[in-house]
Amino acid sequence: MVSKDDIKKLIEATDMAALVSPYVKLIKSGSGYKGLCPFHHEDTPSFSVSQEKHLAKCFGCGKGGSPIQFLMDIKHLSYIDAVRELAKINNMDINLAPPSKQEQINQKYYEINKLALDFYERNLWHTVSGEQALKYLNDRGLTNEIIKKFKIGLAPKEPDLLYRFLHESKYLELDMVDCGLVRNNNDRYYDVFTDRIIFPITNESGKVLGFSGRIYQGEKNLPKYLNTAETPAFKKNSILYNLENAIEGITQNNRIVLHEGFMDVIATVRAGINEAVCSMGTALTQNQIKIIKKYTTNVVLCYDSDKAGILATYKAIDLFESQGFNIKILRINGAKDSDEFVSKFGLEKYLTYFNSNQIEALEYIYQSATANLDINNNTEIEGAKKIIFDALKNKGSAVLAEKYLNRLSGFLNISTNALLQDYEFYNKKNPMYPSNQAAGYDNRPPAEPVAKNTSDLLKNKLFELRIFKYATISKEKALEIDSYLEKNQALPAFKEVNRDIWILLINEYYNTHDKFDEEEFVKLLRTRGLFDTYYNNALALEKFVIPYTNEDLKECLKSLVLESRKTQMLDLQNSINKEETPDDLKRELIIRKFKIKENYERLKK
Ligand code: CTP
Ligand code: MN
Repeated sequence: MVSKDDIKKLIEATDMAALVSPYVKLIKSGSGYKGLCPFHHEDTPSFSVSQEKHLAKCFGCGKGGSPIQFLMDIKHLSYIDAVRELAKINNMDINLAPPSKQEQINQKYYEINKLALDFYERNLWHTVSGEQALKYLNDRGLTNEIIKKFKIGLAPKEPDLLYRFLHESKYLELDMVDCGLVRNNNDRYYDVFTDRIIFPITNESGKVLGFSGRIYQGEKNLPKYLNTAETPAFKKNSILYNLENAIEGITQNNRIVLHEGFMDVIATVRAGINEAVCSMGTALTQNQIKIIKKYTTNVVLCYDSDKAGILATYKAIDLFESQGFNIKILRINGAKDSDEFVSKFGLEKYLTYFNSNQIEALEYIYQSATANLDINNNTEIEGAKKIIFDALKNKGSAVLAEKYLNRLSGFLNISTNALLQDYEFYNKKNPMYPSNQAAGYDNRPPAEPVAKNTSDLLKNKLFELRIFKYATISKEKALEIDSYLEKNQALPAFKEVNRDIWILLINEYYNTHDKFDEEEFVKLLRTRGLFDTYYNNALALEKFVIPYTNEDLKECLKSLVLESRKTQMLDLQNSINKEETPDDLKRELIIRKFKIKENYERLKK
């Protein structure tokens, strides 16, 4: 543990005004300074800073105090971390208690990652291939200053340059592998990231947890982003990109801005909004919400404007509402995401748009459910109705229900009365959470995706929907699956509408497209009135955490084949049971059924 003397020295060495000034605009007052408190909202300054007494404290809300306390409050640090931070600021060596075992192990990863990060940055700024990568970044609107701020780097083309560099250090090969930077193959070591622009991922205190690498020369057949595999230090479900730099803005403005991707975070920071983070393309988790909640309970959601983004927003709304957050949503119009908005219309337009287009969750749900709705398409109307009814039900307000049903009535050109009837009927049929109903919607259980095991999924027949997911990976995969299903006579096992969607996907969509693009496919679905089913399927799948692996695909295919065998047997049995079937045919059918049954039993094993 640190000695009292050390702490005293540390406090006395602190320049209080310099420590506080990034967070508070200070005005000279007597022998010290005053300013507006960064911890609560006020119009007259009651936050006071004394250089002599080494205090920074608010006399309104009581937060702050010693420089250590101030750092703990403003950066939400533990005591030890605040001491560490202050020692770093003051350039002092402090003898701290040894960190926990896991932290010790992680420490090593952080150090290796930091070496790698320096390497990647040097490689971006001081090499020939670095020039190309820099040009790519500059062309996307990132100034050199921004590139440095986000510590963006470049992994070289060569297969093992990073490995050879790290090899010179004191770290073991094993640690580099555990860190996710190097992989082993036939007694040789190779870099995991090659020829990619590197985004470092740090935690709240700036430790480098891992990396994400983006292709930048339009390479085909490679994933756009490659991330560090899960390691003890890199746990994707508790990471928020850019949190380290965002904390100051989050505390100052008492809100966090949540995006889908790195480039959107960077675009938003470029526009001057520093409190932007993203969850690296994965669905938001309770862990991430827990981290956010340490700093603020106000969130602005800025997900992509495509269907996946809308679904992700719905889910995020549920999660944040169940945790008591205030939610605002930025519905991006005219672009796919914030980054595209900025490159199309510029930073200033984006900032204005950002500040004046945030809407409430219910309004967002209404708008996105009715946007692009074809009012001549009954399935689409019913789909939108369901989404809006669900949202209204959650609000539990008759006033809001009337307001939005009136609006929907105008939009659909249907009487409000009819809509109200439907709404009441819908509520009766779908009680929200029966056990909690009386308590109102704030007591809803958190809408965390339910992890189910495979057999549960099979029971739910979701394997059918999962097969679609695999068919969107690539055209090759889709055709491979289709020919397997055909060969095994399993296509009829698809539920009728899903079969239509499958045929549309394989025989029409992939006939004219080489890659799956959801927006394009949705257009096609709409022309056949199949969008609603597709959309509901997607919603159903979203509820589960499904490990998409080859094993899982095999399971799905097998289940569909088994399903199809069952249907065949049932059909045969029906014909056998019919009186008018001639006896000799019956005998033949019985044999056929028997053969299918054998096949079924064999497969099932
Ligand atoms: N992502 C990923 N792996 C992929 C694609 C995406 O991990 N193959 C993650 C990345 O964190 C990415 C985020 O999902 O930032 C959002 O994906 P997307 O919207 O496709 O990327 P953008 O951030 O828009 O990136 P860019 O503009 O560079 O295409
Ligand atoms: Mn983008």
